[in-house]
Amino acid sequence: MKLFIDTANIEEIKTVSTWGIIEGVTTNPSLIAKEGRKLVDVIKEITSLIHGPISAEVKEGLSEDMLEEAFTYARMHPNITIKVPMTLEGIKATSRLSALNIKTNVTLVFSVPQAMMAAKAGATFVSPFMGRLDDDLKDPEAGYRLLEDIRVAFDNYGIETQIIAASIRHPLHVEQAALAGSDIATIPFRVFQEMVVHPLTTKGLEIFRNAQK
Ligand code: E4P
Repeated sequence: MKLFIDTANIEEIKTVSTWGIIEGVTTNPSLIAKEGRKLVDVIKEITSLIHGPISAEVKEGLSEDMLEEAFTYARMHPNITIKVPMTLEGIKATSRLSALNIKTNVTLVFSVPQAMMAAKAGATFVSPFMGRLDDDLKDPEAGYRLLEDIRVAFDNYGIETQIIAASIRHPLHVEQAALAGSDIATIPFRVFQEMVVHPLTTKGLEIFRNAQK
């Protein structure tokens, strides 16, 4: 499973770029707004730090308007992936972008039918939102089941669209994404910090430190 970082914060991206495990970046309007900078400036800086797919989300609207914005971003760098909301206009835009070989990431996906439509439109990636689905259904495995079901549906038909497990809230979501067979997990910086630790690892390090005194 590939690991992307889910952030628009340049300092976080600089930090994780030194780890040698990050293969892409996803952003969204909320993450961009948090940085207080123009999307194009943030995305341009990210392209110099991470050498993999970098998702830039277009404003939801008519397909023609989304396409105009998409072309602006796509021209910036070959790694830029156009993040498109899961709407009928978004599906139309995705079909046009995939016909032009522009990478797309259909986002705000919460069901298998949505994922199938996005794949049919030629989406490079689909982003099912685990955390928000868990929250909405008050079920800590709702997102897990959605990932499993999309994986089965895609494998049934040899669909090459890649699944990006998104809206990840904790290391268990990363585990669920891996067990479900997600191609990618896009993970917030805070969750990466949580993933690396385990109480027994900490305890074992203490034992080894004491032994080396
Ligand atoms: C990534 O592509 C998504 O936009 C992101 O994971 C959403 O996370 P959130 O549900 O915490 O906003």
